[in-house]
Amino acid sequence: MLANIEGRVAIVTGGGQGLGEAICRRLAAEGCKVLVADLNGGNAATVAADLPEAMSYTVDVTDEAQVAGMVAAAVARWGRLDIMVANAGILIAEAIEDADAAKWRTVIDVNLVGAMLCCKYAAREFITQQSGALVAINSKSGKRGSFRNSAYAASKFGAIGLIQSVALELAPHGARANAICPGNLLDSPLWQDSLFEQYARNRGMSVADVRKMYEGQVPLGRGASYDDITNMVVFLASDASSYMTGQAINVTGGQVMSP
Ligand SMILES: NC(=O)c1ccc[n+]([C@@H]2O[C@H](COP(=O)([O-])OP(=O)(O)OC[C@H]3O[C@@H](n4cnc5c(N)ncnc54)[C@H](O)[C@@H]3O)[C@@H](O)[C@H]2O)c1
Repeated sequence: MLANIEGRVAIVTGGGQGLGEAICRRLAAEGCKVLVADLNGGNAATVAADLPEAMSYTVDVTDEAQVAGMVAAAVARWGRLDIMVANAGILIAEAIEDADAAKWRTVIDVNLVGAMLCCKYAAREFITQQSGALVAINSKSGKRGSFRNSAYAASKFGAIGLIQSVALELAPHGARANAICPGNLLDSPLWQDSLFEQYARNRGMSVADVRKMYEGQVPLGRGASYDDITNMVVFLASDASSYMTGQAINVTGGQVMSP
């Protein structure tokens, strides 16, 4: 019961598919009211329509006015904001010698500046309320470099600095900020629709061999499941983690072990 978050108001960015959708469904199952936010408003609406108490919001997390509007919409509907899950993220993998600066900036803009804007507008509510939990979805690539994937790793390393700094600012206000660093969700749309292809091309391997290689890198021998990650989201969003802030928790099957 310690991890009880029933009745809390949550926003999940990138909630229209993949991990974000799984987080929306899990928070709803735990009794939260959920604002499902996504660049793809149609997907967000489909997910929200399937949840007991939810609304959808079309948002580009790189656009400050839209992020402000997203938080205002949740507060207008439910009167408060308890949980912000900054999950929206993109990946463009390129060898450094071919890296395109415009694409690199786009990754930083979504993964880092987008997360900052979510922190900013959540923080305003949390400071007013003197409570709240921010959970940023990071990556194992926020802890160590990622082969031919420098923009993504740089954005995720940066987002850990963001969360540690925001945690310091929120602490006097009874609010917390933590990050989750998942391992590879090999069955997610991100892998199935693009990453396996990109990595196979970049490494000159077959898709089947890329999958085997990634599973072989995990001490526990498998990719991450959505439940592995949503369990940690619920914990970090709840009072069960009330003595934790500024942390970036690996959920990687042992693939990354931080001191
Ligand atoms: N899939 C993995 O293996 C994996 C591993 C570690 C970390 N992550 C992280 O998990 C998060 C979710 O990844 P996923 O695999 O579910 O990806 P995904 O591509 O399946 O879903 C991302 C969602 O974010 C939305 N989005 C993209 N840009 C946006 C923007 N500017 N504003 C608002 N929404 C936007 C997309 O429309 C999409 O619905 C990301 O932060 C990613 O870095 C994923």
